[in-house]
Amino acid sequence: MRGGRDGVRRRRRSNGVDSAVPNVELLAGDWRDHLPQRAPFDLLFFDGGHFDESPEAIDLVVPGGLIVKDDLSPDWEGPDPVRELLFDNPKLLAVELLTTPTTVAVLAVRLGVTGA
Ligand SMILES: C[S@@+](CC[C@H](N)C(=O)[O-])C[C@H]1O[C@@H](n2cnc3c(N)ncnc32)[C@H](O)[C@@H]1O
Repeated sequence: MRGGRDGVRRRRRSNGVDSAVPNVELLAGDWRDHLPQRAPFDLLFFDGGHFDESPEAIDLVVPGGLIVKDDLSPDWEGPDPVRELLFDNPKLLAVELLTTPTTVAVLAVRLGVTGA
């Protein structure tokens, strides 16, 4: 997510929402500024911007971890850079799941060792 005056908002302990969920950290800003130093993650749900323009996001995930990319079209025709990144990538083993009659999600397991 983008936003926040200083680019980062931490709501932990600052309101009733996150105090009920102590292991949640809410950040606002460009993910590139905040997530690499918190990596690696076991799960990455990529819902921000164009995944095909962010191949470095794959390296946020620990080997054996899972990447979820939703909102793809099942009947997409022609080149699809998002599917190419996920399915033609030696770092990933991916499967496509029909989530509704008109939407698809891709689940991809990060293979190999860190930095592979
Ligand atoms: C498809 S929308 C997701 C909306 C979200 N699921 C929601 O319900 O609010 C993509 C969002 O990613 C944000 N975004 C795009 N590039 C980003 C980046 N590099 N870092 C963080 N957020 C980004 C956009 O501003 C937009 O809000």
